[in-house]
Amino acid sequence: MFDEKGQKYLDCINNVAHVGHSHPYVIKAATKQMELLNTNSRFLHDNLVQYAQRLTATLPEKLSVCYFVNSGSEANDLALRLARQYHGHQDVITLENAYHGHVTSLIDISPYKFNQLGKDSKKEFVHVAPSPDIYRGKYREDHPDPSSAYAEEVKKIIEEAQKNGRKIAAFIAESMQSCGGQVIPPVGYFQKVAEYVRAAGGVFIADEVQVGFGRVGKHFWAFQLQGEDFVPDIVTMGKPIGNGHPMSCVVTTREIAESFGASGLEYFNTFGGNPVSCAIGLAVLEVIEKEDLQGNATRVGNYLLELLAEQKEKHPLVGDI
Ligand SMILES: Cc1ncc(COP(=O)(O)O)c(C=O)c1O
Repeated sequence: MFDEKGQKYLDCINNVAHVGHSHPYVIKAATKQMELLNTNSRFLHDNLVQYAQRLTATLPEKLSVCYFVNSGSEANDLALRLARQYHGHQDVITLENAYHGHVTSLIDISPYKFNQLGKDSKKEFVHVAPSPDIYRGKYREDHPDPSSAYAEEVKKIIEEAQKNGRKIAAFIAESMQSCGGQVIPPVGYFQKVAEYVRAAGGVFIADEVQVGFGRVGKHFWAFQLQGEDFVPDIVTMGKPIGNGHPMSCVVTTREIAESFGASGLEYFNTFGGNPVSCAIGLAVLEVIEKEDLQGNATRVGNYLLELLAEQKEKHPLVGDI
């Protein structure tokens, strides 16, 4: 990036320019498609199918149906609709400090936001589980099994809600809490939570709006840090997906998508999945692969961790990295 005086900067904080500002390959793909055609996504276009195929190839097989939308908020709102339609339940379990978007339905399930409105701002259908933070949270590194302990908290919430006649539609969490304080959940936590939530007739929504697309290095999706045996029911994506272009996506299982379709409400979205957005999405995926950006995230991430670990040794005020 350059400022108005031509001073050069490395942009370390912009969380959408995933493959670099103004990447020529992405610009070319967008320009080419804009010159040719952009249209309401009521009309079918090959880009949409090609992009869906390319995107789902990065995910476990079960996650095979894409809904294209235009922002992270729109993706999470649609995820809630899918979850609520699935078994007709309404309640949502969310994590402490979570943020999932700016629309009404998401402010309701974002403690980071609704807590600012005062003490009675939590809606009855919302249940807040402790953040699985093993550094500052309720169960810490010295606990023999923090993943089970945090998952038990969710189980207790479900039991309490059921006692009050309430029914759980979904558990939603970022695969790694970013807004909520850069919290990496202990391995095994999601598996156990998913088991309890599914037994209650709910679904597991993994919000990958900030942490997806290879950012965690070792894996393409942050939920994969939990292990191969964990597959969410719904994954939401945004920010880096279009390198700054406003687009996003919800991916789910065929079963959940079919139940949504069976509701009789046609799913329609004017801009979601338009040919230009899909061309951009495809180009971003191609750049991530060609330039080995996931490998780069691992290499640079490990390098930073090493240097910061040295600082931790020197400065007692550094508690955790
Ligand atoms: C984790 C997470 N989910 C959802 C959203 C909402 O995305 P958008 O701002 O694109 O609507 C954000 C935005 O900051 C986010 O950080």
